[in-house]
Amino acid sequence: MALVSARDMLLKAHKEGYGVAQININNLEWIKAVLEVVKELNSPVILGVSEGAAKYMGGYRNVMAMVRELDAFYNIQQPIAVHLDHGTYEGAFKALEAGFTSIMFDGSHYPFEENLAKTKEVVAKCHSVGVSVEAEVGSIGGEEDGVVGAGEIADPEECRLIAETGVDMFAAGIGNIHGKYPANWKGLDFEVLAEVQRVTNNIPLVLHGGSGIPEDMIKKAISLGVSKINVNTECQLAFAEATRKYIEEGKDLQSKGFDPRKLLAPGVEAIKNVVREKLTLFGSVNKA
Ligand code: 13P
Repeated sequence: MALVSARDMLLKAHKEGYGVAQININNLEWIKAVLEVVKELNSPVILGVSEGAAKYMGGYRNVMAMVRELDAFYNIQQPIAVHLDHGTYEGAFKALEAGFTSIMFDGSHYPFEENLAKTKEVVAKCHSVGVSVEAEVGSIGGEEDGVVGAGEIADPEECRLIAETGVDMFAAGIGNIHGKYPANWKGLDFEVLAEVQRVTNNIPLVLHGGSGIPEDMIKKAISLGVSKINVNTECQLAFAEATRKYIEEGKDLQSKGFDPRKLLAPGVEAIKNVVREKLTLFGSVNKA
């Protein structure tokens, strides 16, 4: 199936009360792992690509080439969107030009008026070619690929104004953090989430920092309008742990165990397990 914008899959998820996973990809193995699970579980998915990950994979065009060819290789029939994660203003236009089907413009670090003006420009350009747009208000805490956020709680009035730009999905900071959650984490602010959904005219909401959020909070967030949940760290941790185990057990030293196709296989299997778990928890299995 041709790669698609995230718009329709999120509107369907929002209407039917489940979440679509954004799984961030880091290399060829990651893309293969996600596509294999999507096919197996007949689920839609959004492949998240940060600017740092795109650079690592040889640029936006190479990311698109890999995803497009693997999509054809596996004969994927499920909707797949390729989404720029936390895009800068310049990055948004570059990814668009390379064929990304969905763009997040993260203007949360600009003064609000500038975030609003730039979001409007990105929406106009992306919508003219059928590409979906995500905007952010109130930065997400923690660090991801050099993007550092203080973890503010979003101001609902600012959310309303940004939603009016016509964005297709909307990320509001509600106490969520990229990376591991600290032991003293206060949890998600559901009051703000409900208010944000109310003032944004029922637009599908996005929950960043999806790794390590307890299941009951994920389900409650979905019930309050979250339709897209971003997961990166949990896949990375699972991949690293499985790879470390393989090496610590000396398997790379046995026979041809040093062959990367063997050495990386347990890590890939571990990513697949995390993706299976998330698609099941978010409720998107058989929703393609
Ligand atoms: P985690 O790495 O915490 O799962 O967050 C991913 C994310 O929000 C990508 O934008």
